[in-house]
Amino acid sequence: MEKIVSAIAAPNIALIKYWGKRDNLLKLPLNDSISMTLDAGTLASTTTILLSDGLPRDIFVLNGQRVQDAHIAEALKLMRARLAHDHPLIDSPVLLISSNNFPTSAGIASSASGFAALAKAMGGALGIDDLRELSILARLGSGSASRSIFGGFAKWKTGKREDGEDSFAAQIAPSSHWPDLVDVIAVADAGKKKVSSKMGMERTVDTSELFDCRIKHMPASVRRVETAILENDFDALGEEIMKDSNSMHATMLESWPPVMYMNDVSRSVIEAVHEYNADAGEIRAAYTFDAGPNAHIITTQDESAKVRAMLKKISGVQKLFVSPIGEGAKSVAPDRKLAENTLKMLKINVSLD
Ligand code: DP6
Repeated sequence: MEKIVSAIAAPNIALIKYWGKRDNLLKLPLNDSISMTLDAGTLASTTTILLSDGLPRDIFVLNGQRVQDAHIAEALKLMRARLAHDHPLIDSPVLLISSNNFPTSAGIASSASGFAALAKAMGGALGIDDLRELSILARLGSGSASRSIFGGFAKWKTGKREDGEDSFAAQIAPSSHWPDLVDVIAVADAGKKKVSSKMGMERTVDTSELFDCRIKHMPASVRRVETAILENDFDALGEEIMKDSNSMHATMLESWPPVMYMNDVSRSVIEAVHEYNADAGEIRAAYTFDAGPNAHIITTQDESAKVRAMLKKISGVQKLFVSPIGEGAKSVAPDRKLAENTLKMLKINVSLD
């Protein structure tokens, strides 16, 4: 028995950040987080999986290169432990072929889109379409991926249970609720980060005293962002997301040894955005930074050209991507040709009839 499926998913930008886990293996968070899904036409991961007993072992091909990837191997192990009883096909070896339509070297996170696409593809192969289950499967890969299952705005709940069954994302509002929001991404450093988010989070939870204070204030921030989204209140949304990003990076800086993802270019962007809003007399652009130096500026379609012009003037900004708000992970036609060509490249003989 064999199965080929393909799926596509976009990254999401966290408006209220997930930073810190209560369970490192199951990727259970210490706070609720909220995100906006980006547009798969601009940034996306496309993943094809072949499940077949004819394969010698699990094989991962990322952006055309065969790789050994402990993170993907662990995610598959967790998915198998969860699903093998009801879906024995998942125990077959898998050929996973995944690629991003944006340069991986651009320094834009791909784990959210990558694991959301993998969860969606696995769901397609096994006949699982329940969004809550897909969100949990994506979470087993990377916490933030749980939100990329959904389009528009999504909230991932902390949950209370040790087994994580109540920790999954759900949609707050579809993209049509606020279609003119965009994320202007200013690449400030395209290199690979020195401290992974996994390590950075662990260090923050273990050593930062500010972190407890952040966690205490999270429920109120989450409520304010949710309300701002539901009321299409850009001013309130902008202020909250900038404060939340600053709060997360403050806890990192206060960790020991400090975790620093922002660089001088990131800090110039922060200053420029505050000046831009001060000139406008209201918040028209809001920055947020994930675990990296690249700035995400949330603004509206109308404002986007002016925001881009402002960012281009900042020395050290290498490249701009503009992504509208987008849709959740979706299945696409199985890419048999890609699977066949990849098997040929790997010199593995499995017939795909
Ligand atoms: C700063 O989801 O990459 O982007 O669960 O360890 O894989 P793991 O972490 P990951 O962390 C994302 C952190 C963040 C904030 C966010 O996306 O909410």
